[in-house]
Amino acid sequence: MPKDADAKAGPAHVAIIMDGNGRWAQKRGRPRLFGHHAGARRVREIVEACPQLGVKYLTIFAFSTENWKRTQSEVAGLMSLFRKYLKREADDLYQNGVCVRFIGDRIRLDDKLVALMDDLELRTAENDRVHLTVALNYGGRDEVTRAAKRLAFEIEQGRLTHQDVDAETLAGFLDTHVLPDPDLVIRTSGEARISNFLLWQSAYAEYEFVDTLWPDFTAEEFASVLNSYAKRDRRFGAARVCE
Ligand code: FPP
Repeated sequence: MPKDADAKAGPAHVAIIMDGNGRWAQKRGRPRLFGHHAGARRVREIVEACPQLGVKYLTIFAFSTENWKRTQSEVAGLMSLFRKYLKREADDLYQNGVCVRFIGDRIRLDDKLVALMDDLELRTAENDRVHLTVALNYGGRDEVTRAAKRLAFEIEQGRLTHQDVDAETLAGFLDTHVLPDPDLVIRTSGEARISNFLLWQSAYAEYEFVDTLWPDFTAEEFASVLNSYAKRDRRFGAARVCE
Protein backbone atom coordinates (compact mmCIF):
# COMPACT_ATOMS: atom_id res chain seq x y z
CA MET A 1 0.00 0.00 0.00
CA PRO A 2 1.47 3.38 -1.00
CA LYS A 3 2.34 5.51 2.00
CA ASP A 4 0.27 8.41 0.59
CA ALA A 5 -2.94 6.35 0.32
CA ASP A 6 -5.84 8.77 0.42
CA ALA A 7 -8.62 7.86 2.87
CA LYS A 8 -11.13 9.82 0.77
CA ALA A 9 -10.89 7.14 -1.91
CA GLY A 10 -12.16 4.60 0.66
CA PRO A 11 -10.24 1.59 1.98
CA ALA A 12 -9.00 -0.88 -0.62
CA HIS A 13 -8.35 -3.50 2.07
CA VAL A 14 -10.68 -3.97 5.03
CA ALA A 15 -9.98 -6.54 7.75
CA ILE A 16 -12.72 -7.58 10.18
CA ILE A 17 -12.65 -9.19 13.62
CA MET A 18 -16.12 -10.75 13.62
CA ASP A 19 -16.88 -10.70 17.34
CA GLY A 20 -20.08 -11.19 19.30
CA ASN A 21 -21.61 -14.40 17.91
CA GLY A 22 -21.75 -16.02 21.35
CA ARG A 23 -23.45 -13.04 23.03
CA TRP A 24 -25.89 -12.74 20.13
CA ALA A 25 -26.97 -16.35 20.68
CA GLN A 26 -27.01 -16.00 24.47
CA LYS A 27 -29.38 -13.01 24.21
CA ARG A 28 -31.78 -15.34 22.40
CA GLY A 29 -31.35 -18.18 24.87
CA ARG A 30 -29.68 -20.31 22.21
CA PRO A 31 -26.34 -22.20 22.15
CA ARG A 32 -23.22 -20.35 21.00
CA LEU A 33 -23.10 -22.29 17.72
CA PHE A 34 -26.45 -20.79 16.76
CA GLY A 35 -24.65 -17.43 16.84
CA HIS A 36 -21.77 -18.72 14.72
CA HIS A 37 -24.25 -19.94 12.08
CA ALA A 38 -25.93 -16.51 12.05
CA GLY A 39 -22.44 -14.97 11.76
CA ALA A 40 -21.65 -17.12 8.74
CA ARG A 41 -24.78 -15.83 6.97
CA ARG A 42 -23.56 -12.28 7.59
CA VAL A 43 -20.19 -13.07 5.96
CA ARG A 44 -21.98 -13.64 2.66
CA GLU A 45 -23.78 -10.28 2.81
CA ILE A 46 -20.58 -8.37 3.60
CA VAL A 47 -18.56 -10.10 0.85
CA GLU A 48 -21.31 -9.33 -1.68
CA ALA A 49 -21.34 -5.65 -0.65
CA CYS A 50 -17.59 -5.21 -1.31
CA PRO A 51 -17.47 -4.49 -5.08
CA GLN A 52 -20.11 -1.76 -4.85
CA LEU A 53 -18.31 -0.18 -1.89
CA GLY A 54 -14.93 -0.21 -3.65
CA VAL A 55 -13.42 -2.77 -1.27
CA LYS A 56 -11.06 -4.94 -3.31
CA TYR A 57 -9.60 -6.93 -0.39
CA LEU A 58 -11.55 -8.27 2.57
CA THR A 59 -9.83 -10.27 5.31
CA ILE A 60 -11.93 -11.92 8.03
CA PHE A 61 -10.85 -13.49 11.31
CA ALA A 62 -12.68 -16.82 11.50
CA PHE A 63 -10.63 -18.79 14.04
CA SER A 64 -7.59 -17.75 16.06
CA THR A 65 -4.66 -19.78 17.38
CA GLU A 66 -6.18 -19.08 20.82
CA ASN A 67 -9.71 -20.27 19.93
CA TRP A 68 -8.64 -23.90 20.55
CA LYS A 69 -9.09 -23.05 24.26
CA ARG A 70 -12.87 -23.10 23.78
CA THR A 71 -14.89 -26.19 24.70
CA GLN A 72 -14.35 -29.21 22.51
CA SER A 73 -17.96 -29.07 21.34
CA GLU A 74 -17.70 -25.41 20.26
CA VAL A 75 -14.42 -26.07 18.40
CA ALA A 76 -15.89 -29.14 16.67
CA GLY A 77 -19.04 -27.19 15.81
CA LEU A 78 -17.01 -24.36 14.31
CA MET A 79 -14.86 -26.75 12.24
CA SER A 80 -18.00 -28.45 10.95
CA LEU A 81 -19.49 -25.03 10.14
CA PHE A 82 -16.36 -24.07 8.16
CA ARG A 83 -16.54 -27.33 6.17
CA LYS A 84 -20.25 -26.87 5.42
CA TYR A 85 -19.75 -23.22 4.55
CA LEU A 86 -16.96 -23.91 2.07
CA LYS A 87 -18.99 -26.67 0.38
CA ARG A 88 -22.17 -24.59 0.26
CA GLU A 89 -20.64 -21.28 -0.84
CA ALA A 90 -17.93 -22.52 -3.24
CA ASP A 91 -19.99 -22.21 -6.44
CA ASP A 92 -21.34 -18.75 -5.65
CA LEU A 93 -17.95 -17.45 -4.57
CA TYR A 94 -16.44 -18.68 -7.81
CA GLN A 95 -19.26 -17.32 -9.98
CA ASN A 96 -19.20 -13.95 -8.21
CA GLY A 97 -15.55 -13.44 -9.10
CA VAL A 98 -14.24 -13.85 -5.55
CA CYS A 99 -10.64 -14.99 -5.17
CA VAL A 100 -10.47 -16.90 -1.86
CA ARG A 101 -7.29 -17.35 0.19
CA PHE A 102 -6.63 -18.72 3.64
CA ILE A 103 -4.02 -17.53 6.11
CA GLY A 104 -2.96 -19.25 9.31
CA ASP A 105 -1.29 -22.54 10.15
CA ARG A 106 -3.06 -25.49 8.51
CA ILE A 107 -1.16 -28.05 10.57
CA ARG A 108 -3.84 -28.40 13.28
CA LEU A 109 -6.81 -28.35 10.90
CA ASP A 110 -8.43 -31.61 9.85
CA ASP A 111 -7.62 -33.09 6.44
CA LYS A 112 -11.13 -32.70 5.03
CA LEU A 113 -11.21 -29.02 5.86
CA VAL A 114 -7.72 -28.45 4.43
CA ALA A 115 -8.71 -30.25 1.20
CA LEU A 116 -11.75 -27.95 0.83
CA MET A 117 -9.56 -24.91 1.46
CA ASP A 118 -6.99 -26.04 -1.12
CA ASP A 119 -9.72 -26.74 -3.71
CA LEU A 120 -11.37 -23.37 -3.25
CA GLU A 121 -8.06 -21.51 -3.46
CA LEU A 122 -7.16 -23.32 -6.65
CA ARG A 123 -10.58 -22.92 -8.21
CA THR A 124 -10.85 -19.19 -7.53
CA ALA A 125 -7.19 -18.28 -8.09
CA GLU A 126 -7.86 -16.40 -11.34
CA ASN A 127 -10.77 -14.35 -9.93
CA ASP A 128 -10.13 -10.69 -9.32
CA ARG A 129 -13.42 -8.94 -8.46
CA VAL A 130 -12.93 -9.27 -4.67
CA HIS A 131 -10.08 -10.92 -2.78
CA LEU A 132 -11.45 -12.67 0.30
CA THR A 133 -8.88 -13.88 2.80
CA VAL A 134 -10.09 -16.09 5.64
CA ALA A 135 -7.85 -16.29 8.71
CA LEU A 136 -8.22 -19.82 10.08
CA ASN A 137 -6.03 -21.04 12.95
CA TYR A 138 -4.37 -17.68 12.56
CA GLY A 139 -2.41 -15.63 15.10
CA GLY A 140 -0.21 -12.65 14.29
CA ARG A 141 2.62 -13.78 16.59
CA ASP A 142 2.42 -17.31 15.23
CA GLU A 143 2.58 -15.99 11.66
CA VAL A 144 5.67 -13.84 12.38
CA THR A 145 7.30 -16.75 14.22
CA ARG A 146 6.70 -19.13 11.30
CA ALA A 147 8.05 -16.48 8.90
CA ALA A 148 11.19 -16.00 11.03
CA LYS A 149 11.72 -19.77 11.11
CA ARG A 150 11.51 -20.01 7.31
CA LEU A 151 13.86 -17.05 6.94
CA ALA A 152 16.35 -18.67 9.34
CA PHE A 153 16.15 -21.86 7.28
CA GLU A 154 16.97 -19.92 4.08
CA ILE A 155 20.03 -18.46 5.84
CA GLU A 156 21.02 -21.89 7.14
CA GLN A 157 20.82 -23.24 3.59
CA GLY A 158 23.01 -20.38 2.32
CA ARG A 159 20.32 -18.93 0.05
CA LEU A 160 20.20 -15.69 2.10
CA THR A 161 22.58 -14.00 4.55
CA HIS A 162 21.77 -12.00 7.67
CA GLN A 163 22.50 -8.87 5.60
CA ASP A 164 19.41 -9.65 3.52
CA VAL A 165 17.09 -9.44 6.53
CA ASP A 166 14.96 -6.32 6.43
CA ALA A 167 11.24 -5.57 6.81
CA GLU A 168 10.54 -6.31 3.15
CA THR A 169 12.32 -9.68 3.22
CA LEU A 170 10.53 -10.73 6.39
CA ALA A 171 7.15 -9.61 4.99
CA GLY A 172 7.83 -11.85 2.00
CA PHE A 173 7.67 -14.87 4.33
CA LEU A 174 4.35 -13.91 5.95
CA ASP A 175 1.12 -15.71 5.03
CA THR A 176 -0.12 -12.40 3.61
CA HIS A 177 2.88 -11.83 1.31
CA VAL A 178 0.68 -11.37 -1.78
CA LEU A 179 -1.74 -8.95 -0.10
CA PRO A 180 -1.55 -5.20 0.49
CA ASP A 181 -1.61 -4.08 4.13
CA PRO A 182 -5.10 -3.42 5.53
CA ASP A 183 -6.25 0.21 5.43
CA LEU A 184 -9.02 -0.32 7.96
CA VAL A 185 -9.55 -2.90 10.70
CA ILE A 186 -13.10 -3.20 12.05
CA ARG A 187 -14.00 -5.06 15.24
CA THR A 188 -17.63 -5.65 16.14
CA SER A 189 -19.26 -6.24 19.55
CA GLY A 190 -17.84 -3.31 21.52
CA GLU A 191 -14.51 -4.89 22.43
CA ALA A 192 -11.55 -2.58 21.74
CA ARG A 193 -8.58 -4.91 21.28
CA ILE A 194 -6.86 -6.55 18.33
CA SER A 195 -6.50 -10.09 19.69
CA ASN A 196 -3.37 -11.06 17.75
CA PHE A 197 -4.89 -10.16 14.34
CA LEU A 198 -2.58 -8.96 11.51
CA LEU A 199 -0.08 -7.49 14.01
CA TRP A 200 2.62 -6.78 11.43
CA GLN A 201 0.33 -5.76 8.58
CA SER A 202 -1.82 -3.28 10.51
CA ALA A 203 1.07 -1.06 11.64
CA TYR A 204 -0.58 1.94 9.93
CA ALA A 205 -4.16 0.72 9.64
CA GLU A 206 -7.07 2.78 10.89
CA TYR A 207 -9.28 1.08 13.50
CA GLU A 208 -13.03 1.19 13.96
CA PHE A 209 -14.69 -0.48 16.94
CA VAL A 210 -18.45 -0.80 16.63
CA ASP A 211 -20.89 -1.98 19.31
CA THR A 212 -22.99 -4.12 16.98
CA LEU A 213 -22.67 -7.89 17.47
CA TRP A 214 -21.34 -9.56 14.31
CA PRO A 215 -24.58 -11.39 13.32
CA ASP A 216 -26.34 -7.97 13.31
CA PHE A 217 -23.65 -6.16 11.27
CA THR A 218 -25.43 -5.27 8.03
CA ALA A 219 -24.09 -4.08 4.67
CA GLU A 220 -25.62 -0.65 5.51
CA GLU A 221 -23.58 -0.39 8.70
CA PHE A 222 -20.50 -1.57 6.79
CA ALA A 223 -21.07 1.27 4.28
CA SER A 224 -21.42 3.79 7.09
CA VAL A 225 -18.15 2.64 8.74
CA LEU A 226 -16.44 3.10 5.37
CA ASN A 227 -17.90 6.61 5.11
CA SER A 228 -16.43 7.59 8.45
CA TYR A 229 -13.04 6.13 7.40
CA ALA A 230 -13.14 8.38 4.31
CA LYS A 231 -13.10 11.46 6.61
CA ARG A 232 -9.88 10.42 8.33
CA ASP A 233 -6.49 11.99 7.76
CA ARG A 234 -3.90 9.23 7.22
CA ARG A 235 -0.36 10.45 7.72
CA PHE A 236 1.76 7.29 8.07
CA GLY A 237 3.99 9.02 10.62
CA ALA A 238 4.36 12.29 8.65
CA ALA A 239 3.37 15.68 10.10
CA ARG A 240 -0.05 17.20 9.47
CA VAL A 241 0.06 19.62 6.54
CA CYS A 242 -1.33 23.04 7.60
CA GLU A 243 -2.98 25.05 4.83
C1 FPP B 1 -16.12 -14.49 17.75
O1 FPP B 1 -17.33 -14.39 18.45
C2 FPP B 1 -16.31 -15.32 16.59
C3 FPP B 1 -15.60 -16.45 16.29
C4 FPP B 1 -14.51 -16.97 17.12
C5 FPP B 1 -15.92 -17.24 15.10
C6 FPP B 1 -16.12 -16.44 13.86
C7 FPP B 1 -16.83 -17.30 12.94
C8 FPP B 1 -17.87 -16.95 12.17
C9 FPP B 1 -18.40 -15.58 12.00
C10 FPP B 1 -18.49 -18.04 11.46
C11 FPP B 1 -18.40 -18.04 10.03
C12 FPP B 1 -17.12 -17.77 9.37
C13 FPP B 1 -16.86 -18.30 8.17
C14 FPP B 1 -15.66 -17.91 7.44
C15 FPP B 1 -17.75 -19.28 7.56
P1 FPP B 1 -17.41 -14.98 19.91
O2 FPP B 1 -17.85 -16.38 19.82
O3 FPP B 1 -16.11 -14.78 20.62
O4 FPP B 1 -18.52 -14.09 20.55
P2 FPP B 1 -18.65 -13.65 22.07
O5 FPP B 1 -17.48 -12.73 22.34
O6 FPP B 1 -19.96 -12.94 22.10
O7 FPP B 1 -18.62 -14.88 22.90
